[in-house]
Amino acid sequence: MKKLKILNIVGARPQIIKASAISRAIASKFSDEINEIIIHTGQHYDRELSEVFFDELEIRKPDHNLQVGSGRHGRQTGLILERIEEVILDEKPDCSIIYGDTNSTLAAALAASKQHYPVVHIEAGMRSFNKTMPEELNRIVADHASTLLFASTNTAFKNLMAEGFRPENVAPYSINNPRIVLTGDIMYDNSLFYAELADRKKQNFLDKMDLVEDRFVLVTIHREINTDDLGRLTAIFTTLMELAEKNQTVMVMPLHPRTLIALRDKVPVLYEKLSGNKLIRVIRPVSFLEMILLEKKSLMIITDSGGVQKESHFFSKPCIVLRKETEWVELVKNGTVKLADADPGKITEAWGYFINNKESLKYPGFYGDGKAAVTILNKIIEVFRS
Ligand code: UD1
Ligand code: UDP
Repeated sequence: MKKLKILNIVGARPQIIKASAISRAIASKFSDEINEIIIHTGQHYDRELSEVFFDELEIRKPDHNLQVGSGRHGRQTGLILERIEEVILDEKPDCSIIYGDTNSTLAAALAASKQHYPVVHIEAGMRSFNKTMPEELNRIVADHASTLLFASTNTAFKNLMAEGFRPENVAPYSINNPRIVLTGDIMYDNSLFYAELADRKKQNFLDKMDLVEDRFVLVTIHREINTDDLGRLTAIFTTLMELAEKNQTVMVMPLHPRTLIALRDKVPVLYEKLSGNKLIRVIRPVSFLEMILLEKKSLMIITDSGGVQKESHFFSKPCIVLRKETEWVELVKNGTVKLADADPGKITEAWGYFINNKESLKYPGFYGDGKAAVTILNKIIEVFRS
């Protein structure tokens, strides 16, 4: 039987990591049925935001790299749209897989669907209900341009139903008659798989970093709302520095280049203070295996990342989220994620709460059975074979 041709489309760091779960499952279980073509839009291009993941997670080099680079939303999305349309028309795929909510997700969804090539959206139905976030617009459009939508959580599945997607739709599926499926989260698959590898391959990483288990806090910050708003940027980093000093706790901050640039250019005095503070370790972004070790061994995690807040749950760590809202609402209900916005009072209160209640926190399984990638690929074969 002819193989299905699937485009696996990535652009930003978390998408490369997510795509590795699908690539791995294709290689181990579906290589007779699926021909995978990897497309990298080039939205992320620094080695530590891109190539390091291809190397470490053993993903095949992309078949196409569109090399769009950085730019304002319109330019970046427009360039991807223009370049990826050419590739789609050339490759004529049976379907194109897109992940999450970046500008690469949006552009790929539009390019494929407007040329009548079906789109498969992984991590469909996530909603913050805040359309001032670029990601919220991206994910809404991506969902409504898709034929097959995979929700990671019950909440995401319900969000799709609330927007008119119907679980009772039957084949043949199309953009006008889409299929929605609840699968669990491929990042849970990845965390289980790579945590074991991280222990084996990076045994000395913590020692080399001079870090002691449970004695440091892991911090990541990269969201537009926190890097581009001077008030929020200042409030967050000033509060974190004060907390580190007051509690004599090391904070490890693998910062996205956008945050580093913002600190250096917009608040140079604060940046100097951070750099001179022995308890604050501003470092370059780390690899995924290194990140897993930092997450597993930390006392607590402070982040504005979607992926990192979820990983805090996988590794049973309390997490302060530097946003007003989150898409992963089950974590807030569970009491292990506290939304602190960029508010010094809320950040400090959440810190105190977690330090005092750490032992009583519980981390139930919200994200499936760790086999979401296989479930997804079986469903793709079922839908696009017919
Ligand atoms: C993007 C996504 C965000 C996701 C994040 C994952 C959009 C709108 N946002 O945000 O949802 O959470 O990726 O990390 O798609 N830069 C570099 N080197 C690089 C890439 C970027 O220095 O390899 C710097 C550039 O100054 C660039 C800035 O980071 O202007 C922002 O990059 P961009 O890809 O536009 O957005 P992210 O903040 O990375
Ligand atoms: N990550 C990483 N190294 C880092 C920071 C993050 O490997 O220095 C991983 C992290 O473990 C998670 C993913 O990147 O799997 C999250 O990406 P990011 O925070 O950039 O984006 P978001 O999830 O918010 O879209």
